[in-house]
Amino acid sequence: MTLLEQIRDKARSNRKTIVLPEGTEERTVKATEIIIKEQLANPILLGDPNEIAAVAGKVGANISGAEIIDPKNSKYYEGFVNEFYEMRKSKGMTIDKAQALMSDPLYFGSMCVYKNVADGEVAGARNTTGDVLRPALQIIRTAPGMNSVSGAFIMIVPECEFGDRGLFVFADCAVTPNPTAEQLAEFAFQSTETARKLAGISDPVIGMLSFSTKGSADHELVDKVIKATEIAKQRWPELAVDGEFQADAALVPKVGASKAPGSTVAGKANVLIFPDLQAGNIGYKLVQRMAKAEAIGPILQGMAKPVNDLSRGCSVEDVVNVVAMTAVKAQ
Ligand code: ACO
Repeated sequence: MTLLEQIRDKARSNRKTIVLPEGTEERTVKATEIIIKEQLANPILLGDPNEIAAVAGKVGANISGAEIIDPKNSKYYEGFVNEFYEMRKSKGMTIDKAQALMSDPLYFGSMCVYKNVADGEVAGARNTTGDVLRPALQIIRTAPGMNSVSGAFIMIVPECEFGDRGLFVFADCAVTPNPTAEQLAEFAFQSTETARKLAGISDPVIGMLSFSTKGSADHELVDKVIKATEIAKQRWPELAVDGEFQADAALVPKVGASKAPGSTVAGKANVLIFPDLQAGNIGYKLVQRMAKAEAIGPILQGMAKPVNDLSRGCSVEDVVNVVAMTAVKAQ
């Protein structure tokens, strides 16, 4: 059974409710039919019911098992407006602005998760990452003890002897452009949950990546990764984390042994934490394209409740898979 089949199986075993704010988007509607048929989640589509029905008719999807909520005309609208206003009034929110924002399915969808109308949210087939994340960050916010959010990819690299037999978690590849040392340390912690719960890596081994290995270069960017490694070790002593490592020292046992002798992580890493978003985003795309790896994600980490972003180039199967992953995270 492939990893994605395992994730779908897990989703089915304890069905969660997932809200899909892009209810009039064709791939989302087609995916909804599959989600219902395969019993992966209870989907809620947001949007005008007539428009959603027209899209379903056009793409030939039977979505009769889905709940449909029209944000502005729903029983939740007024309560959500008031709660959002209260939540944000110290930041300049007015009732007028709150009314306008709660008519936007992305804001309404995040409120559905916050108020337990849904267990998780998936969007991004039509909207940018920033537009999906902003309402989620404002409303659902971070998990207790977490100050920042990151986006991980599960990487399945064919014919690769490194990591967990070619299986890896990479982070942050999607969210925080220029993280602090404290944020990088949090990403290390968050990624262990993704490794265990979604990737099926029972022993996450975390390499903090840099262009330096154990002091081989002297630069403020390297100092940040060294500090992040210290913070991660101090805050979560149970983690198998070490750094700073160049990628080869993190992955290749021989190189790790020669460049970082004595490290229990060098040469064994299966979770790679990149020093910033440019490195993380470029890194996962290079491995995906050049090594023909499967890249599953981004999986949003560190949120109080699960929200996931789709690529605008996603396929119907991608939507189904991300909904299944979100449902598993919500269990
Ligand atoms: N973690 C936790 N909270 C955050 C984070 C973070 N990383 N970033 C912002 N926030 C919070 C802020 O504190 C703020 O809360 P507040 O309003 O209650 O004070 C709220 O979110 C909004 O923050 P802003 O700074 O106003 O939002 P911004 O416009 O900067 O958007 C975002 C934040 C969306 C995460 C932005 O940094 C972004 O666009 N990141 C890059 C996304 C991207 O383009 N990724 C690459 C493509 S994805 C791919 O290829 C797989």
